[in-house]
Amino acid sequence: MYTQLEQRGMAEPPVNVSTLRKMKEEGEPIACLTAYDASFAVLVDSADTDIVLVGDSLGMVIQGHDTTVPVTVDDIVYHTRAVARGLRRAFLVADMPFMSYTNPGQALENAVRLMQEGGAMMIKLEGGEGQVDIVEHLARHDIPVCAHLGLRPQSVHKIGGFKVQGRDAGKAREMIASAKRLQNSGADIVLLECVPSELGRAVTKALDVPVIGIGAGPDVDGQILVLYDILDITQGRTPRFVRNFQQDHAAPLAALQAYVKAVKDRSYPAPEHCFS
Ligand code: KIV
Repeated sequence: MYTQLEQRGMAEPPVNVSTLRKMKEEGEPIACLTAYDASFAVLVDSADTDIVLVGDSLGMVIQGHDTTVPVTVDDIVYHTRAVARGLRRAFLVADMPFMSYTNPGQALENAVRLMQEGGAMMIKLEGGEGQVDIVEHLARHDIPVCAHLGLRPQSVHKIGGFKVQGRDAGKAREMIASAKRLQNSGADIVLLECVPSELGRAVTKALDVPVIGIGAGPDVDGQILVLYDILDITQGRTPRFVRNFQQDHAAPLAALQAYVKAVKDRSYPAPEHCFS
């Protein structure tokens, strides 16, 4: 019975939280991508991506909104279920959308939906000090949690745009303290978005759990990017940290393999993808 989760007919066992911790300890970069449907999930998994996130970025890249704010729990459940069908090895994380975790009870109810109905293995929520009690409550119920710090796109209207966070020394210190509190409250992963490389390095050094960066510099434990950005599907201006992996490859699978390789050999992110 216990072997089912480990085998799934694979040469390599599926990634789990222990694999990710071990990768941090051994200094092996963790390669992560978003996905929103079964066909891309198969490709992303075949490229040996370690973590697949069904991000609420789907509100922008799939649904065509300007922000992630309109995304609902039903939307995430629907896309997570589709992605789960395409994965064999990768660890599946699903985003808790805007206003789906305003109190511990509501957060637990929605996290259970993402896991039971969607097939997620971990949930991600955007949080700082204000979410510590929620992370604690979820962890007490054995829900694996990824805490998202730095630029939190669900707060875009409060922040006043998609901006680099933690440039000010005081804010950087607060972010390191929040990351530690979230880890101590039970977060299994911390995701850092759009922060100076120096802060990415400091948070990674301060934590035992893996730190995954998007625009957080080269010295974090892993990298994540939005699938449509690296496959050159996103039109218009892309953020500084995006690299187009499709341009040198004819097939999407080759582009995804190039991304995983670049994360593993640390050639991505290069200085031009980082913030100071
Ligand atoms: O929603 C998302 O895709 C994300 C990534 C940008 C990390 O949160």
